[in-house]
Amino acid sequence: MTLPLFSLAGRVALVTGSSRGLGLGMAEGLAEAGATVVLNGRDPATLEASAQELAARGLAVTIAPFDVVDDAAARAGVDAVVERHGRLDILIANAGIHHARPLPEWEMADWRRVMSANLDACFVLAQRAALPMMRQRHGRILFTTSLTGLLGRPTIHAYSASKAGLAGLTRSLAAELGEHGITCNAIAPGYFETDLSAGLRKDAAFVERINARVPLRRWGKPRDLAGIAVFLASDAAAYVSGQQIVVDGGMGSAL
Ligand SMILES: NC(=O)c1ccc[n+]([C@@H]2O[C@H](COP(=O)([O-])OP(=O)(O)OC[C@H]3O[C@@H](n4cnc5c(N)ncnc54)[C@H](OP(=O)(O)O)[C@@H]3O)[C@@H](O)[C@H]2O)c1
Repeated sequence: MTLPLFSLAGRVALVTGSSRGLGLGMAEGLAEAGATVVLNGRDPATLEASAQELAARGLAVTIAPFDVVDDAAARAGVDAVVERHGRLDILIANAGIHHARPLPEWEMADWRRVMSANLDACFVLAQRAALPMMRQRHGRILFTTSLTGLLGRPTIHAYSASKAGLAGLTRSLAAELGEHGITCNAIAPGYFETDLSAGLRKDAAFVERINARVPLRRWGKPRDLAGIAVFLASDAAAYVSGQQIVVDGGMGSAL
């Protein structure tokens, strides 16, 4: 199927962690570009409310509530999308969690919980989603990494490690899946206004410190990821693979 450069008409996308926050911002962008979007999260009520908002705008949306850290549920979730829609063109494995503690206070259970959600689950989802994509000889796999996988920040050890690991997985998948017509890329956001960063944003001095360091002088909003998600999912990015694209208002490039 040949489409206008940025069109996603006829494409089917599963975006994990898209009942709110960055996932919802990206899912909305994909739907506006013409894709049928499947929203995911654990809480069915939040999912349903977000799906209804998109549907009210005339966008094509369905929901798939499952927990990405449950391997069997994640595989079944991917399979259900293929069964329901007949194909899967775009996976954005975006669901992720955060945990911050001074180093001596880290428990292995917290390390494993973050790695399991942010890295292991993305592998399981990508492995399963690659099957229909290989059959179609077309696919787009995207991960949400983080600027903090590239630049160190104290206290968020598992988070940084998981996101750096995901950047490695992006490259190994791109290397293996390219011959099947599948690209794999990562989007690395800087500081964005979502529930995940709500704790950080309670500290007015921290909010200002980030604003002062970001050349665009503000935190990102979920909508700021819509364009990059559409680009990487579309034919416009047909020859882009194995890349991690930073979307941070210029923060990581400025002294
Ligand atoms: N916000 C930032 O500044 C920032 C910066 C860089 C990277 N990121 C990354 O961007 C991604 C999204 O973050 P966000 O800020 O949008 O977070 P958020 O506002 O906390 O939203 C997280 C989303 O993921 C879902 N979710 C969480 N755990 C899940 C699980 N185990 N299974 C299925 N869904 C799950 C949540 O729904 P339920 O709770 O209902 O499951 C929700 O829809 C994460 O990977 C995060 O690391 C965020």
